[in-house]
Amino acid sequence: MTSPTEEVQRGLQDVVALESRICFIDGKQGRLIYNGYDIRDLASKSNFEEVAYLLWYGRLPTTDQLATLRHHLIELRELPAAMAERIDSMPAGSNPMDILRTAVSELALFEPEETRPGPSSIGGAQRLTAVLPSIVGQFHRRRAGLPRLGTRPDLSHAGYLLYALLDREPTELESRVLDVALVLHADHELNASTFSARVTASTLSDLYSAVTSAVGTLKGPLHGGANERVMELLEEIGTPDRAEEVVKAKLSRHERIMGFGHRVYKVEDPRATILREWSRRIGEAKGDLHYYELLRKVEEVVHHEKGLYPNVDLYSGSVYGLLGIPTDLFTPVFATSRVAGWTAHVLEEYQDLRLIRPSAKYIGPTDLPYVPIKARV
Ligand code: COA
Repeated sequence: MTSPTEEVQRGLQDVVALESRICFIDGKQGRLIYNGYDIRDLASKSNFEEVAYLLWYGRLPTTDQLATLRHHLIELRELPAAMAERIDSMPAGSNPMDILRTAVSELALFEPEETRPGPSSIGGAQRLTAVLPSIVGQFHRRRAGLPRLGTRPDLSHAGYLLYALLDREPTELESRVLDVALVLHADHELNASTFSARVTASTLSDLYSAVTSAVGTLKGPLHGGANERVMELLEEIGTPDRAEEVVKAKLSRHERIMGFGHRVYKVEDPRATILREWSRRIGEAKGDLHYYELLRKVEEVVHHEKGLYPNVDLYSGSVYGLLGIPTDLFTPVFATSRVAGWTAHVLEEYQDLRLIRPSAKYIGPTDLPYVPIKARV
């Protein structure tokens, strides 16, 4: 057994924790690869269902394989009636990520056969991926006073999610924009939520527990919650001519500007490059380039002041906002995509399992005398 290294890597920065075939990030070149395929190709030529297949099985599907998966995901969309009622009984003012985390955890009670860890967890992976839009949609519809959701077998994962949230037919462009966003968010190597899913799975716990851990981790503003904060920043700035003043004031108070910087990318996040263009396209289609112009200005100022590049969250919020998705659902929408990556990583963990258990460098005392409680001050 090797002895732990004494050097602490805060935040596990630059620590290579495991081998994975799923995702590669080249932080210097600004490249993101899923199972060998460049994200730029996948975003322009593929779709969410195909990417989910790629992440789970390690190869692109044939026409038949994709058709089978699509059909299966649609079949798995429906929530158990008791679960839908449970969601309806949760406080309507809840944080949607709390609802999602609770619902994923509770769903396991309805589906005990899916909670055996191991290769059969592919069933749970597909079930959770199929059902997450239904959970998010059900919660939103209930709080908005909309009727229960039907399964809509004609709609893709992205189209169904939009239909559930907007309560109308999404246009082809709207479905395509969201589909691209879901492709871009489906995996990102050992990001915090995926790591937490793998840590949970590495104890031989089940997939539903692993995804519950991941949802809780994604909720944080330094991870999935950043795009919601970008929208708050845009509200605060208001017009492009105020961007410099507001950003500079924040930086002088040592505040972080959400949507900028990344632990791995040292150049522009390729997902930001792709979403910037889609933000412009959807803005043009809706006749509203307000967000796009504001974000371009913020980018200019932040780069000039701090040399920081945008990450995926800078433009995703504006895209979701223009699609009419409520701001507090941005992170749940992220989860409806990342669930494919989380579950692919959990399946990989089960195939090559080793308990993830790092060490801490102890910096406290070791020889304190025990003082009886009555003698303590
Ligand atoms: N705004 C302002 N300064 C930032 C910044 C940001 N968004 N991101 C990093 N920095 C600065 C830090 O203040 C630090 O400066 P210093 O050396 O003068 O103290 C330096 O850049 C390094 O930051 P550090 O926190 O060590 O980098 P990290 O790898 O831990 O941070 C993030 C990565 C993502 C947590 C960080 O960039 C951040 O908080 N970004 C905003 C949240 C966000 O957009 N998250 C979504 C990620 S996809």
